[in-house]
Amino acid sequence: MGVSTSSLPAIAFTILAVIMSFLRKYKPFQSWFIAKLENSFVDHFTSAKQLVVNGDFSLTRTSKNFKTAGDTTLYDLSKALSHLSEYLVRAQGQNGVIFQRTKELPPDVRDQLKTLSYFSKIQNVNISLQNNYKVVESVIRYVLEQLIKNNANNLEKGLRDQLKATCLEFGYVLSEKNELCKNSDNTIVAMLESNQYRVSEAISHLCRDWSPNFRCEREPFNQFFKERILSLGLPEDEKVLILVPGAGVGQLSHFLATNFPHYAVDSIEWSALMYICGQFALGYGKDVELSPFALRYSGQLDCARQIRTVEVQLSEVRRSSNLRFHWGDFCEFIPTEDHYDSIVVCTEFFIDTAENLFEYFETIERFKNRCNNLHWINAGPLKYGTRPLVQLNAMELNKLRQLRGWKDIHESNVTDYNHPLIGYLTDYGSLFQCYYGALKFHSTFATDRK
Ligand SMILES: C[S@@+](CC[C@H](N)C(=O)[O-])C[C@H]1O[C@@H](n2cnc3c(N)ncnc32)[C@H](O)[C@@H]1O
Ligand SMILES: *[C@@H]1O[C@H](CO)[C@@H](O)[C@H](O)[C@H]1NC(C)=O
Ligand SMILES: *[C@@H]1O[C@H](CO)[C@@H](O)[C@H](O)[C@H]1NC(C)=O
Repeated sequence: MGVSTSSLPAIAFTILAVIMSFLRKYKPFQSWFIAKLENSFVDHFTSAKQLVVNGDFSLTRTSKNFKTAGDTTLYDLSKALSHLSEYLVRAQGQNGVIFQRTKELPPDVRDQLKTLSYFSKIQNVNISLQNNYKVVESVIRYVLEQLIKNNANNLEKGLRDQLKATCLEFGYVLSEKNELCKNSDNTIVAMLESNQYRVSEAISHLCRDWSPNFRCEREPFNQFFKERILSLGLPEDEKVLILVPGAGVGQLSHFLATNFPHYAVDSIEWSALMYICGQFALGYGKDVELSPFALRYSGQLDCARQIRTVEVQLSEVRRSSNLRFHWGDFCEFIPTEDHYDSIVVCTEFFIDTAENLFEYFETIERFKNRCNNLHWINAGPLKYGTRPLVQLNAMELNKLRQLRGWKDIHESNVTDYNHPLIGYLTDYGSLFQCYYGALKFHSTFATDRK
């Protein structure tokens, strides 16, 4: 294959990347030598860190929808793609541990395991992981294609080289006609920290959001949000904005946009992996199959169940024109237009992700400057996660809403097993199944502006 001179910087970059990943494994070399090599990366990274990735993967120097701190850059995107590209190596590594541990057992017991087909089960899991990886590869390719499609006409200096280098990083050569050709199958495991847990989570979310097998996790909440919005009885010609913060892989945003075609829907997600998988779901247009529970050895009834595939029906997904995606921090989000008749914020499995719950309140309350009527509809548990400054219970949250000028139109909670609790990435075929009780409320804010 001929190599044009213009792709040389990009190729040099790839060679460097390979050398780096190799050397990183050898601690004695790391000190000054790595530091020197890393300087060669600095240019590439510095410019990648200055390029903001917009919702459609177009690149600009500044963003319109986020205050600067909430921006996400080409550097963040590349990092997420690297984590995705390491999926197979890391997942099979985890599976390898399952195999290695049996070596601590005496030979006669290992023979028994062989008779039980324990080892062929581990091999079958390996194959499932390979099949999952085919989907992951499609995700990576899809994102690169979008990057090219939405930036090919951007003539900014150095941008094309940057795109080429990014493609090469993930094993693709970008042709003069803007086509992607697979270059190598070598995964460069260059990342120092693994993000495997997040990668698996994002992949499982493709199932939660888009597979018929997980309809039970989506429908009750979809219907709740729909009913609450319908109950407002807003006329069709009102200017309404529905905001979905922490949208994950985007199913609820998509559902609301298709059910309320006259309203604008803004979907905001901060995690690159979730965001990428969401974009893939809405744009890929073909069905895919995943085995979301392949690596879960515990609680299983048999091998077939453990590695069973679920159909992710992406061919039926049609992106609705009133739906916009934003990649960044909800707390930094600025709506596109200055004024709406109503803004409806829909939070699903979201409020307990706050480090500082008051920031979520403040962010939502700021929207009152942009509308006559501000609504907040919530459904989800209170399973506080990331180093929360406060962990309020439902009663405290209720009082806090009152204190701050919110008025509840609806509030309910489910704790009784006989009223359906709801799953979240739950393995419905296994002996261990996790369910949540939901706190639901619909509250309206006393607004100043008329
Ligand atoms: C538990 S998940 C729920 C996802 C989705 N709502 C669902 O129900 O499937 C919470 C999501 O919120 C996102 N998130 C957390 N803090 C955020 C923030 N400040 N801005 C935007 N997204 C955020 C996380 O990345 C994660 O995808
Ligand atoms: C799983 O795949 C990895 C990588 O291809 C290989 O090293 C390992 O031996 C396989 N394990 C089993 C049990 O087949
Ligand atoms: C939870 O729901 C019950 C009724 O199902 C209600 O009596 C109670 O006040 C609710 N608690 C909170 C804190 O919302």
